[in-house]
Amino acid sequence: MTTYTITLANRDGASYRVAAHRPLLDSLRDQGVDLPYGCQYGGCITCAAKLTQGSVNQKAQVALNNRQINDGYVILCVARPTGDCTLEIGVDSHDKLYRNPFLDPLKPHELKADIATPLKEPT
Ligand code: FES
Repeated sequence: MTTYTITLANRDGASYRVAAHRPLLDSLRDQGVDLPYGCQYGGCITCAAKLTQGSVNQKAQVALNNRQINDGYVILCVARPTGDCTLEIGVDSHDKLYRNPFLDPLKPHELKADIATPLKEPT
């Protein structure tokens, strides 16, 4: 079984060994890490954490837009590690997760492709 080390930068650098095939939310909670979560299928954004080093596979997530992904956010309930990672977890990692859409609206390249693509009119 492949395992990786997950370091929690904003929890005094605590580190945990986790299996590559399991979502990070499950692996970390099983080891006593207190994490916010809701839907557990990648749709509600509650479990978002900031990845500062390493990589994950989070293809199943539907909660994040491209801007949030580019800012390093990962969805722990579906993200599986593909190497050793350093994360900032919890709501204290959400400093860049949300922004006021009236003061600073998303640009088309920051949206998901299916939202940014205009619908074709039926002919
Ligand atoms: S718990 Fe809802 S997106 Fe992870």
